[in-house]
Amino acid sequence: MNAQSLSAVAGLPGDDTWLEWLLSTRHGSDATYAAALAPVIADIRDRLLDHANIQPGQAIADIGCGDGLAGFGALERQATTSVTFVDISPGLIAHTRDLAQRCGLDERCRFIVASAVALAAIPDASIDVVLVRAMLAYLEDKKAALGEFRRILRPGARISIVDPIFQDNAFALAGLASQRRPGSSDVGARYAELLHRCRSAYFPDSLDGIRSSSLTNYNERDLVRLFQVSGFVNVHLRLHIDSVPAPAIPWGAFLASSPRAGVPTIGDILDEQFTAAERGEFETMLRAKIESGSMLEQNVNAYVFADNPG
Ligand SMILES: C[S@@+](CC[C@H](N)C(=O)[O-])C[C@H]1O[C@@H](n2cnc3c(N)ncnc32)[C@H](O)[C@@H]1O
Repeated sequence: MNAQSLSAVAGLPGDDTWLEWLLSTRHGSDATYAAALAPVIADIRDRLLDHANIQPGQAIADIGCGDGLAGFGALERQATTSVTFVDISPGLIAHTRDLAQRCGLDERCRFIVASAVALAAIPDASIDVVLVRAMLAYLEDKKAALGEFRRILRPGARISIVDPIFQDNAFALAGLASQRRPGSSDVGARYAELLHRCRSAYFPDSLDGIRSSSLTNYNERDLVRLFQVSGFVNVHLRLHIDSVPAPAIPWGAFLASSPRAGVPTIGDILDEQFTAAERGEFETMLRAKIESGSMLEQNVNAYVFADNPG
């Protein structure tokens, strides 16, 4: 079921950008692309759960749960755990609740529509493990969220997060910007020009822009410091940098995809910002690489796990 029909069935507001992205635009609504992403995401979830050291009977909160990746993983690992799924997207909470009901897990689940910076529906010191996957990056006020996580965690309880670090992508884009030579017909300069124009819809490409965006103005060490100044103890970082070929996907799926919610698809960028001739040039440069899986990408994921003071 795609995001649009899901909204229609559940009677949800149409404008739920995270719902649409997670269930559809993330993989360009393409089964091949979704299947290629699945094992990569499952590996990330498994490391996140390993660091959480989940014990029987624990009360877990999956904050920014999306379609329940981490929380459902926690329910599977220990048959007696319970999970509070929290997300700012009403559509995703409805979707996740529906999944839980269909799997017969709903009696062990609670669902809350809320922002990570205002978790008033969860009482103080009521949670044994907070799990967060790929959500902090999208928060302006990350410190406020960590304050809320500390408040809901019992003394001595564990937090385990994994988040993408986008700063390197932005620095790479700033590098591309410096290689552009507008008007040049040199193939390398044209490649830099067109790729830069496409990617600058997703990341800032100047030092000032990188510094002022909450998506890019921090790295993994800053995350560690954030946990420390928020009062967590036993703070650990595991940094994973995977420089790998992107999955081989159909060109249509590539065009229909976007790297995160609320930003245009690659196809939309080409339609809006490229002439027909430039679109042809861009396709000539990239299509074979995209379809053969020889386009390199670098994914940076920071795993941080820590304890609430006892
Ligand atoms: C990249 S998705 C990750 C979803 C899920 N954790 C996963 O691993 O698949 C980011 C999620 O964070 C949620 N989100 C974004 N801002 C949020 C906020 N301020 N509070 C709570 N959830 C938020 C989105 O609705 C979305 O479900």
